[in-house]
Amino acid sequence: MCGIIAVTGSGASVEILTTGLRRLEYRGYDSAGIVLHTRDDGFLRFRAAGGTKSLVALESEAGAFHGEVIAGIGHTRWATHGGPTLFNAHPHFDCGENIAIVHNGIVENFRELKEELLAGGHVFSSETDTEVIAHLIEVQLPFSPSLVDAVASVAKRMRGAMSFVVVGASEPGVIVGFKRMAPMVVGTDGSSWFLASDIPAILDRAGTFFQIEDENLVVLTPKGARMLTLDMVDVPMESFGVDWTLESAERSGFDDFMSKEIFEQPAALRDTLAGRMTRDGLLLLDEQPSDLDLWARVDKVFIVACGTSFHAGMVAKYAIEHWTKIPVELDISSEFRYRDPVVDERTLVVAVSQSGETLDTLAALHEARNLGAQTLAVCNVVGSSMARLADAVLYTRAGPEVGVAATKTHTSQIGALMMLALQLARVKGQLYPQEVRDLYDQLLAVPAKVTEVLGLWDQMRDLAVRYGGCSRFYFIGRHVGYPVALEGALKLKEISYLPAEGYPAGELKHGAIAMLDADAVVFAIATRTRLYEKVMSNVEEVRARNSAVVVIGNPGDESVVSTGETFISVPRLHPLFAPMVDVIPLQMFAYHVARGLGNDADRPRNLAKTVTVE
Ligand code: F6R
Repeated sequence: MCGIIAVTGSGASVEILTTGLRRLEYRGYDSAGIVLHTRDDGFLRFRAAGGTKSLVALESEAGAFHGEVIAGIGHTRWATHGGPTLFNAHPHFDCGENIAIVHNGIVENFRELKEELLAGGHVFSSETDTEVIAHLIEVQLPFSPSLVDAVASVAKRMRGAMSFVVVGASEPGVIVGFKRMAPMVVGTDGSSWFLASDIPAILDRAGTFFQIEDENLVVLTPKGARMLTLDMVDVPMESFGVDWTLESAERSGFDDFMSKEIFEQPAALRDTLAGRMTRDGLLLLDEQPSDLDLWARVDKVFIVACGTSFHAGMVAKYAIEHWTKIPVELDISSEFRYRDPVVDERTLVVAVSQSGETLDTLAALHEARNLGAQTLAVCNVVGSSMARLADAVLYTRAGPEVGVAATKTHTSQIGALMMLALQLARVKGQLYPQEVRDLYDQLLAVPAKVTEVLGLWDQMRDLAVRYGGCSRFYFIGRHVGYPVALEGALKLKEISYLPAEGYPAGELKHGAIAMLDADAVVFAIATRTRLYEKVMSNVEEVRARNSAVVVIGNPGDESVVSTGETFISVPRLHPLFAPMVDVIPLQMFAYHVARGLGNDADRPRNLAKTVTVE
C-alpha cells in the first residue's frame, strides 16, 4: 500500500504535491518523492527515505525550487519489493530518464519482465517491481503514437492489482494513469487536474471528482481528463462531489481507522498472497535463507508471537502439521525466552509480528538464533527489527495499520502462514508441486470471499445493539475455530472492555460452563471445518444453560439455530483457510459493541499499537 498524487495545470506546484503526500502518509511513509516536469529544467526528481521524517526532508529540499512547474507526480511508500531505502524510493525512471512513474500495488510478473529487460540491456537503479514499468514504456514508446498508447500496451502485460501514474518528457503537461483493483481517483478545480490514491490528498483543491473504473487508463492535461480502455476506446466519466471534512477524508469517509482497516482486508490479503508462488509451487520469500536446503531438513517448527499474531500462529500450527507432518510448537513469546525450549539447528523458529518490533517476540527471536535455530520473521513492516534479525523474511503486505486492535494484519498473517505451510510441505516432499499450486489457487480466491463477508456489517451492528448490554461473552470453536474464538474474545475485550473468553468448545464442560446463564452470550464458530458436528453438540450444552447463542456457520446450515438464536452465514472455504473469513464477523461485532458504548475503537484504553517493553 502506497500513496500516489499527480497534478497538471495552472495549480501544479511542489506544495500541492507534498501537502497531498502528507495526507496520504497513512498509506505508508518509508520514503517520499516527487518528479516535477519543469518549464526550464525538464524533469527534476526529489526523494527522501527515513520513515516519518522522509516527507519533512522532501519538503525542505523540493521547496527550494521556485521555477515553473508544468506537471508533477508524487509518492509516499510502504515498502514491498526492496527495502525502505533512497534508491528504492519512487518516482522511478527508465534508462534515459524520459519516463517517470509512481506506483501502488504489486507487479506479480515483475521477475520475468525484469529478466527480459536485463537481457535487452536495460540498467536498473532500484530493487522495485515498479521500475520494470518505466523501462517497458521506454521500449514501447518509439513504436507508439503517444505516451498513453505505450502505457496501454505495457499495462496489458502486467499481472497483479495496481495503479500507477506516468509522465513522459516528450509530452509536457500530460499525465497518464492506469487502475486495476487499487484505488485512484481524478479531481479538478477547473484549472488544475489531479490524480490521487485517495480523496483526502486533493480534497482542499478539487471540488469535482471522477471515479476511474478498473482496467482503464486516464489521461490528464491542463484542459481536462479522458478515460480510456486498454484498447483506446473512450469511456464516459461520471462526476461526483464529496461532503467530507478533511479529517474524515483521511479515513476515506470511515468513522475511524479500525472500520476502514476491517474493510481493507480483501486488498490487504490480495497483496499479501499475490505473485508469491512460482508455477512449480515454490514460495517467493522477501528475504531467502542463505541455504533453502536447510528447510528440507527441518524436523520441528516453533512459532513465537503475542496477542493477535499468536492467534494467527495457532492457525498455522494446524496447517503445517496437516500438510507437512512436522510437529509444530507454539509459544507466547514472553514464555519462550524464560523456559528451556528444545530447539536446535533443525528447528525453524517463526516469529509472527505485525510491527516486527514487539520486544518479547524480538527477544524470542534472539534466543532462537542463540540456540542455533533457523529463523523466519513474518511481519508487516519492511526493515523492522525482526526482519533485520531473522535469516529469512516473509512480509504481509497489509499496508500500515493505525487502529490499535489488529484486523487486516491478522487475516494477512494467516494468509502468509498458509503459504509458508505449503512451502514446507513442498520442500519436505509431502505435497506434489501441482497440489501446492492447486491449494495456492484456492488461497487466491479467499480475498473475494472476504469481500462477501464484509456485507454482514449491518447485521453485526444489529447484533451488537441486541447483545451489547449483556454481561459476559464466550467464544467457542474447535480445531482452527479455536484460534478464531480466541481472537473474537480478544477483539471484544480490547475495545469494549467487556468480559470475554475464548474456549476450545470441547473444554467448556471442564469448568467454564459453570459461568453460563441467561445473561451470557455464546458465539460458536461452527463453519464446516473438521469438527463441525462436535461443535454443534457443544452448542447443545450451552442451550441447556439458557445462554444466548450466535452461530457462525456456512450457507445451508441455517436450520441449526433454534428460535431466538442468530445464524451468521459466511462463505464456505477449505477448512484450513476458513479462519480468514470466520473471524471477520467477530471483528465487526467487537467494533459495533465498542462504538455503541461510546468507546474510541482506534485508541482503546491502556493499550499501545506496538509493545516495546517487556
Ligand atoms: C490485538 C493486538 C495485539 C498484538 C500484539 C503483538 O489486537 O494488536 O495483541 O497482536 O501486541 O503485536 P505484533 O503483532 O506487532 O507483534
